[in-house]
Amino acid sequence: MMNWDELEQTCLSCRKCGLADTRTHVVFGVGSRDAEVLFVGEGPGENEDLQGEPFVGRGGKLLDEMLTIIDLDRTKNIYIANIVKCRPPQNRDPLNTEQDACIGYLRNQVSLLRPKIIVCLGRIAAMKLIKEDFKITREHGQWFQKSGVWMTALYHPAALLRDPRRKPETFDDLKSIQAKIREVCDHTY
Ligand code: URA
Repeated sequence: MMNWDELEQTCLSCRKCGLADTRTHVVFGVGSRDAEVLFVGEGPGENEDLQGEPFVGRGGKLLDEMLTIIDLDRTKNIYIANIVKCRPPQNRDPLNTEQDACIGYLRNQVSLLRPKIIVCLGRIAAMKLIKEDFKITREHGQWFQKSGVWMTALYHPAALLRDPRRKPETFDDLKSIQAKIREVCDHTY
């Protein structure tokens, strides 16, 4: 097993798929390597590609506000990563081939972190990590247990920016995540 720094160095020089040709930065992930809660998005957008950090655009600002509601902070008590580490051109959904080329990095991040809870941000991450027929409108906020890890999904912050009518449901989902953290985590709060 690689350690965190070895995994990050390997990932930063990855050329496993075509996204390597168009990226500015590999977006490996951010947060505490001792976190009990892992958030997973789909892949970097333009701002993330330019800065090398997940969720730093308008959606990132909203995500940070959502996290603050339940006393979570990307610099303190969670880790944030993506299914694919490089930006898909024009922010299209990552292809299945690109997801399959990249998912090993996320699996290694999960092995190192050993999170108690994984929160998928949006449909793409939920379909990859929870179940392939995941329906985000019906199943956001529901809990699934997979190999000892509690998993749920929230609407993607970009979806909430497009359709703010989904914010009240998301508030309920955040409160459910807070309750689950109190139940199963020992050093998040
Ligand atoms: N959207 C994502 O899914 N991930 C990011 O890092 C940024 C935007």
